[in-house]
Amino acid sequence: MKRGIKLKIAISSDHGGNNLRKEIKDLLDELGYSYEDFGPKDSTSVDYPDYAQPVSSGVAAGKFDKGILICGTGIGMSIAANKVKGIRCALVHDVFSAKATRCHNDSNIIAMGERVIGPGLAREIVKTWLETDFEGGRHERRVEKITEIEQQN
Ligand code: RB5
Repeated sequence: MKRGIKLKIAISSDHGGNNLRKEIKDLLDELGYSYEDFGPKDSTSVDYPDYAQPVSSGVAAGKFDKGILICGTGIGMSIAANKVKGIRCALVHDVFSAKATRCHNDSNIIAMGERVIGPGLAREIVKTWLETDFEGGRHERRVEKITEIEQQN
């Protein structure tokens, strides 16, 4: 698992996730991760799929190792991200799930809602998610089965 500055992260939000995106970028800076910010640049109302797409496509194409998506609830972003082949986006609002979705699902994008959790918890969630490795083993088989479903549809 690549860690620290070797891990390349893509991040975006919609207008509902702007403040939390700034907070998480501060966290990434503090932890030494490199990232690309796909916006939006200001608080004008935007459509979350437009911002989920570049992050998701970038991760699916291997340009980025992981992605972080934030909207008001995290739900719209997670639904949009999971439409992109190769993406396993987890909507997470607690630290246990952040760890579990890396260990068990090998999630490559995390989605969160700024209107759901505060910045302190969001920071803990992202830190845990970034630092937790996929367990493999029986979980590898299950993730492969997700990929098979994706390829059949
Ligand atoms: C925007 O108002 C809101 O719908 C969006 O941020 C998100 O919560 C959608 O799932």
